[in-house]
Amino acid sequence: MSKAHFGLIGLGVMGENLVLNAERNGFSSVVYNRTFSKTESFLKGRGAGKSIIGARSFKEFVDSLERPRRILMMIKAGSATDAVIDEISPYLEEGDLLIDGGNSEFRDTERRVSQLESRNFGYIGMGVSGGSKGALEGPSMMPGGTKSSYEAIESLVSKMAAQVEDGPCVTYIGPGGSGHFVKTVHNGIEYGIEQILSESYDLMKRVSGMKGEQMANVMAQWNRTEELTSYLVEITEVCLREKDTNDGEDLVEKIMDKAGQKGTGLWTVSSALELGISVPTIYASLNARVMSSLKDQRVKAESIIKNIPVISFNLGTVDNGMEPLMDAVVLATICSYAQGMDLLKAASEEFKYNLSMPSIAKIWKGGCIIRSSLLSRIQEAYNNNPDLLNLLLDPWFADQVNRKLTNLSKVVSGAAQSGIPVPCLSSSLDYINSYRTSRLPQNLVQAMRDCFGSHTYERLDMKGPYHTDWLK
Ligand code: 6PG
Repeated sequence: MSKAHFGLIGLGVMGENLVLNAERNGFSSVVYNRTFSKTESFLKGRGAGKSIIGARSFKEFVDSLERPRRILMMIKAGSATDAVIDEISPYLEEGDLLIDGGNSEFRDTERRVSQLESRNFGYIGMGVSGGSKGALEGPSMMPGGTKSSYEAIESLVSKMAAQVEDGPCVTYIGPGGSGHFVKTVHNGIEYGIEQILSESYDLMKRVSGMKGEQMANVMAQWNRTEELTSYLVEITEVCLREKDTNDGEDLVEKIMDKAGQKGTGLWTVSSALELGISVPTIYASLNARVMSSLKDQRVKAESIIKNIPVISFNLGTVDNGMEPLMDAVVLATICSYAQGMDLLKAASEEFKYNLSMPSIAKIWKGGCIIRSSLLSRIQEAYNNNPDLLNLLLDPWFADQVNRKLTNLSKVVSGAAQSGIPVPCLSSSLDYINSYRTSRLPQNLVQAMRDCFGSHTYERLDMKGPYHTDWLK
């Protein structure tokens, strides 16, 4: 029997869909799952009648694959990944390739790349985005590792990936853990946009008294604009329109207001802090999830800390597409992307990843959760100026800021006066205001530091450093 082109470990939803995707694209496959009963039911069900076989052991799995073996692991990030690597590697031969398609921490991937490559196996840490539907129909893929390892999987992933007008949504990202780093930042941006849209829903509901259907119609309008056409706006419309089958009310109102997280948002923020990059919109979205998890405390606090009555302020009308609110959402979304891109640039320098910003924007244009029309503008911005310091300085984005900042300020101020938390909208406003202010009050911080700790300061008018005996 001829050997399979591709091997997959881990038949979760993502794994199943990715192997069906590979098979549809002409790559006969072999699958392995820790419990063989799962493999059997997959082969009898969705895998039936396809060029996919199952293996009961790692030996059988490895023996069924053509060389060099291309093996994708879709398993829980962390120690489970190390355990599978340890178990399978005795059966691998020089040149074989393991691909980790989970959401692994990029430093774990760095370690695994160097361990496996020192044994002459290839190791690719590949971010995969698009959820279960994307995995089946074409995800965005972010593979990192050595270039030669990538070349061995290029034909496979180029066919499996989503396709946009300028090619497949996959490219060689860079060495080491760069693929997982880029996926981590993708998720940080994703957290930001999810929270921004949730804040806009809260304002429409609490200030304008709108119901799911009306808000869904607004999302549909936003999704037809250049600034907001995106997958996340599209699914927000879907979520807001859905009714509870029990009573026909908006289903979203029945959902517990606690958001979980699996780590990537936290890693984005901790990497940003380590690299000294400002990501307040992304941080605010992470913190909003943390705050949301304190449900019991929030319920208690609501009975103790007095409510501020909601004031009426202009969020716009359905007829004008809730224009002031939309402007606020657009700017905050731009901030989420700008901060993520800034972090990628810093990491590229620090970790010598040599990331191509236009290519990353390109492979995010299709398949992934943060795909949006803004990404074409982002791609263009970095193509026009590879040394762009911040997305907000690109002429198209600067024009957006100049035209929409007043509305963002009004929406944030109305929300503040109404006691409605809008952490991502308000931190985006502060981000823009700080970034465009040439003189910040940190001169006083410097004075205090020098006053109590003799930390010294620089002066604007003379070369330093200086120290003053403040408490004389
Ligand atoms: C994607 C998603 C996906 C991820 C969660 C984020 O790009 O397809 O980012 O990989 O698992 O959506 O996880 P949490 O919100 O649970 O942290």
